[in-house]
Amino acid sequence: MPTSDERRNRQGIETRAIHHGYDPATAMGALNPPIYMTSTYVFDSVADGAEIIGGTKAGYIYGRSHNPTQEVLERRLADLEGAEAGLAFASGMGAVCSMLLTMLSAGDRLVAHHTLYSNTFAFVTQALPRWGVDVMLVDFGDPAAVEAAIDARTRLVYFETPSNPTIDIVDIREISTIAHRHGAPVAVDSTFASPAVQRPIEHGADLVIHSLTKYASGHGDVLAGAVLGDAERVGAVRAHGLRYITGAVISPMSAHLVLRGLKSLPVRMQRHAENALAAAQFLESHPKVAWVRYPWLESHPRHDVAVRQMANGSAMMSFGLVGGFDGAVRMLDRLRLVSRAVSLGDAESLMIHPASLIQGRARLHPKEGAAQGITDDLIRFSVGLETAEDIIADLDDALAGA
Ligand SMILES: Cc1ncc(COP(=O)(O)O)c(C=O)c1O
Repeated sequence: MPTSDERRNRQGIETRAIHHGYDPATAMGALNPPIYMTSTYVFDSVADGAEIIGGTKAGYIYGRSHNPTQEVLERRLADLEGAEAGLAFASGMGAVCSMLLTMLSAGDRLVAHHTLYSNTFAFVTQALPRWGVDVMLVDFGDPAAVEAAIDARTRLVYFETPSNPTIDIVDIREISTIAHRHGAPVAVDSTFASPAVQRPIEHGADLVIHSLTKYASGHGDVLAGAVLGDAERVGAVRAHGLRYITGAVISPMSAHLVLRGLKSLPVRMQRHAENALAAAQFLESHPKVAWVRYPWLESHPRHDVAVRQMANGSAMMSFGLVGGFDGAVRMLDRLRLVSRAVSLGDAESLMIHPASLIQGRARLHPKEGAAQGITDDLIRFSVGLETAEDIIADLDDALAGA
């Protein structure tokens, strides 16, 4: 018979998403971790304050470095990702930028996949070069190109998988092996999968980034982000990136909302994925749909890699219509259940046509969109938790008019 400690170590992800890292006995029996709505902490004495600040005594000083609600979230996320340590942020971009600004200095090189979330793309192509970081964007589907891009100055290899919005699947193990051969650490933005579907550290990555705004919280009511990884690097991101570079601290209320969302994450991801597969199969068989990219469809060019590193297909897909750009606009304007909205991972199904949005802003030039594989016809679809038949009926009606 396994001991109770052994059983606890083997608890399933559903159990850990609800319980890990918090004991109600430490907070007057409160079932949920209290929301410690405080920015600063009182020292017992001058000596006490000095010891806490010096790190020789446990305790709290100021909300930019530690808050008890935030710490429960960080412990839980680290456990779900299989990471040694975790750090929560005010947004996914807070996590991305704090991590990049900690890992990179002037003269270093960043090697990244050529398709990235639009604001991450803007940060690495516009901000980092201003501070003397050399940025190489290559197609991570081509291992030889990645190997050729990494040089002695390379301090980080970075990608999203699945990627936003093209749903590229990058082979985490393959890229990590190449990067480590050259001594470069690997950071993966795993937002599109969540820890219930994909845990990059198990496949060789060093750091994992999440926009917790998406699946982790799951209800479209909070902005949050996280960096997970080894204690040394995560500690450096807290001490430098978060504390005095970006200050992108999560509020205790937001930490509570993410903890609430995490409780149902594994269960939600199963239904999200079932709905998404049904929707992807429907779209793939529709005469007005030219192509569909969803990791769990056999037609995805890297379906074999997806099956190796993901537990299911998650619920993000991209597709294009025979009617191209104009067809996409017509289809989106006819949706009645699926919402026209940015963001993703919510209970509500959400759809955007990135090329239309790119036209409306200066951040990403259309030519850059094309270089990233964001074609004019690409529609991004975040499949929600509504009844699958209702989602498909709405797609069917909208396509009839496209
Ligand atoms: C893959 C990915 N990473 C990071 C972010 C940024 O997260 P946030 O909006 O929470 O700042 C997003 C936002 O859409 C995203 O899709």
